[in-house]
Amino acid sequence: VNTSTVTELRSLARAHNWRHFATIDDDPANAPDIMVKGEGCYLIDAQGNRYFDALSNLYCVNIGYSHGAEIGAAALAQYEQLPYCSNWGSATPPVVQLAVKLADLAPGDLNHVFFTPSGGESVEAAWKLARQYHALRGQRRWKAIARNDAYHGTTLGALSLNGNTRLRNLFEPLVPTVAHVRSTRRVERPAGETDAEFAAFLLDDIEHTIVAEGPSTVAMIIVEPVQNSGGNLTAPDGYFAGLRALCDKYGILLVADETITAFGRLGAWFGSHRYGIRPDIVTTAKGLSSAYGAIGAVIVSDCVFETFAAAPRMFVHGNTFGGHPVMAAVALKNLEIMERLDLPGHVLAKETELGGVLGELATNPMVRDVRGTGYFYAIELATSRPDGTQLTGAECGDLYGDARLADRLKQLGVLLRVYAASSPTIGPILSIAPPLVADTAEFTLLAESLTTVLGEIAEAAGL
Ligand SMILES: Cc1ncc(COP(=O)(O)O)c(C=O)c1O
Repeated sequence: VNTSTVTELRSLARAHNWRHFATIDDDPANAPDIMVKGEGCYLIDAQGNRYFDALSNLYCVNIGYSHGAEIGAAALAQYEQLPYCSNWGSATPPVVQLAVKLADLAPGDLNHVFFTPSGGESVEAAWKLARQYHALRGQRRWKAIARNDAYHGTTLGALSLNGNTRLRNLFEPLVPTVAHVRSTRRVERPAGETDAEFAAFLLDDIEHTIVAEGPSTVAMIIVEPVQNSGGNLTAPDGYFAGLRALCDKYGILLVADETITAFGRLGAWFGSHRYGIRPDIVTTAKGLSSAYGAIGAVIVSDCVFETFAAAPRMFVHGNTFGGHPVMAAVALKNLEIMERLDLPGHVLAKETELGGVLGELATNPMVRDVRGTGYFYAIELATSRPDGTQLTGAECGDLYGDARLADRLKQLGVLLRVYAASSPTIGPILSIAPPLVADTAEFTLLAESLTTVLGEIAEAAGL
């Protein structure tokens, strides 16, 4: 793409393409990059620069960028056969096949699939489904319990579940009623606390919240197997079993939001497999099609489904694009590719290597914590020097600003996400979730670039 076209596209983007979560300003430096090509784990911009996409774009291009021809052929075949037919009164072969496939891949008795166009709409549908499930059983339960800092989408219902007040506050009043409980963030917990003690502490908080809200009003508890927002918060042993027990005790549905964690990200088809979670409902999207198509799914247990089937009642919810046959054909082909390449197995085999190279970064004095699992990691930066002196806001701004961190990594050929934590006492989080086809060459590039950039930051901090 020639330079004048790139410049024009960037300025037209400012004028007409209202980007998501992007600040609008006239600074040409903030005009968007124009990305034109993808290959394997790499993105190539209009000037020909090549970047390792260490975030799978938005935690979603799980198979990487090189399967467009194969997936495109599957889409074309479906377009030629039947480009669209709703999933209301009718069904289409790829949609049915995909539902069967998901029922097969999903854990336990999660056998019934309600398709949506996105992750947020899967979450939205799950909350409505939980409410209607209780109504069918003669109970008016509407509340949800979610965790601090968690992200579940941006539609009003899903937004209400978000535990990040910066996203929520502007749009209040939100959908009633969500109570937020502690996340599984462990960095500030007492040294030496065991998993069992930490799990008991967290479960106690959840039980108190259920009781305070009134158990007979709580419809669902929603958790991610590994919480992305807040920086890859894994749960202590015993947490998910305890959560299941609390849900059973109080008749609450357990929803696992697997929008990111399903389809190989954690070295298993579902995060629920990896952690032995027994959810009543799973919400998914992203990796379901590796973002080659816009499709999400709510996967529901036999027990919840039977409540509707026995009544019998319709789930009073739907939309035009949920269960789109072309998107289903795309997702089916994506899953076929994942199986052919055994991507969950590849992640499991390689996670120790990725964890190892990232773990070495913890020796940098400005790194507070490195945590994660599978191909899903966070590096949390420090807000104080090793001697305990706090960095001022200005110092943090200088050390961790784009020029030293995100842009510098980009110069070195690595794209990842750097985001501010929800509290000023927590440093920025570097979010890492490479395509599942990434291998040693990509880990090396990632480790070298991060070592350089974090080393420069430590040096700038006088360390
Ligand atoms: C855990 C989780 N739930 C829901 C969503 C919303 O998905 P979407 O952006 O497809 O609406 C996301 C998006 O990142 C997510 O990470």
